[in-house]
Amino acid sequence: MLVLGIETSCDETGVALYDGARGLLGHVLHTQARLHADYGGVVPELASRDHVRRLLPLTSRLLEQTGCRLGELSAVAYTEGPGLAGALLVGAATAHGLGYALGVPVLGVHHLEAHLLSPLLSKPAPAFPFVALLVSGGHTQLMRVDGVGDYELLGETLDDAAGEAFDKTAKLLGLGYPGGPALARLAATGTAGRFNLPRPMLASGGLDFSFSGLKTAVLTVIRERKVDGAARADLAAEIEAAIVEVLVAKALAALRHAGLKRLVVAGGVGANLTLRARLAVAARAHGFEVFHPELEFCTDNGAMIAFAAAMRLQHREGRRGKGEGLGFTVRPRWELATATQ
Ligand code: KG4
Ligand code: ZN
Repeated sequence: MLVLGIETSCDETGVALYDGARGLLGHVLHTQARLHADYGGVVPELASRDHVRRLLPLTSRLLEQTGCRLGELSAVAYTEGPGLAGALLVGAATAHGLGYALGVPVLGVHHLEAHLLSPLLSKPAPAFPFVALLVSGGHTQLMRVDGVGDYELLGETLDDAAGEAFDKTAKLLGLGYPGGPALARLAATGTAGRFNLPRPMLASGGLDFSFSGLKTAVLTVIRERKVDGAARADLAAEIEAAIVEVLVAKALAALRHAGLKRLVVAGGVGANLTLRARLAVAARAHGFEVFHPELEFCTDNGAMIAFAAAMRLQHREGRRGKGEGLGFTVRPRWELATATQ
């Protein structure tokens, strides 16, 4: 079973080939970070147009690199949502066009489900059941995962996502887009503790998060105090420490709540090395295992889409076989819980 996976939900064009027997055969990615950098964030229309330019050449390159032919595909998968409507449509239209021409099933994949399952691409892969900490630019969720398609939401952010908190506070510090990695780099040169930022909802006892207060607290610090040079690095370190501390504490609480000993971290913020280090310390102290996707699979990519689709194909059929209608939709807003019903 050979699946082509296409990711175009935001600012990364990713394509990959996953084979049921041989595993991931290859994946290629184009990131639009430079395209959007001047604007301080993703410009949806520019994103869509760039996906149009990149997607087919990337697919050709992937086929060349892997030595596969389109005729060998058993299915084409794409990110159906959530994401930017125009960007999603590029992947959806391409996938459905290819599927129709080749007479193979086309699967719309939930972007968060793909992130959630991406650690299974690594070795050793975590066994079910596990708790997943999903930390991307748009979502911060804790899920109990009992199998493919079997997800229970344990807690989520009430306002900003962790990635958003990184991005917005990075912007306040005058760092470029994307803010998360830039803030992490600056934080590595500073020391936490000089500034006293809140750890939002740390003591709430629940599994929900809230990060918007952190942004306001950073703004207050910047307005009231001169933050330059070493102080700027120390503030970045404090921001990172505050976000990471909350994520680690809530992940631990979720493991206790679920009675599980395996934690899987997925989504772009999962690339943060301080988060990885703190989770490793907590895992040793509290006797649980942590699984991370490879760094390249933490942020958006086509491999996770191809893989999630391959997992899905083992559970249910693709949405369309040869000769069916040509209509399709994308779902810019899409709750994961409704994706699996
Ligand atoms: O999963 P992802 O690539 O896209 C979404 O589906 O949202 O996550 C992107 C988010 C951005 O907010 C970015 O700033 C953050 O992940 N991110 C990081 C790091 N690398 C990416 N945040 C903190 N530290 C990093 N090293
Ligand atoms: Zn993502």
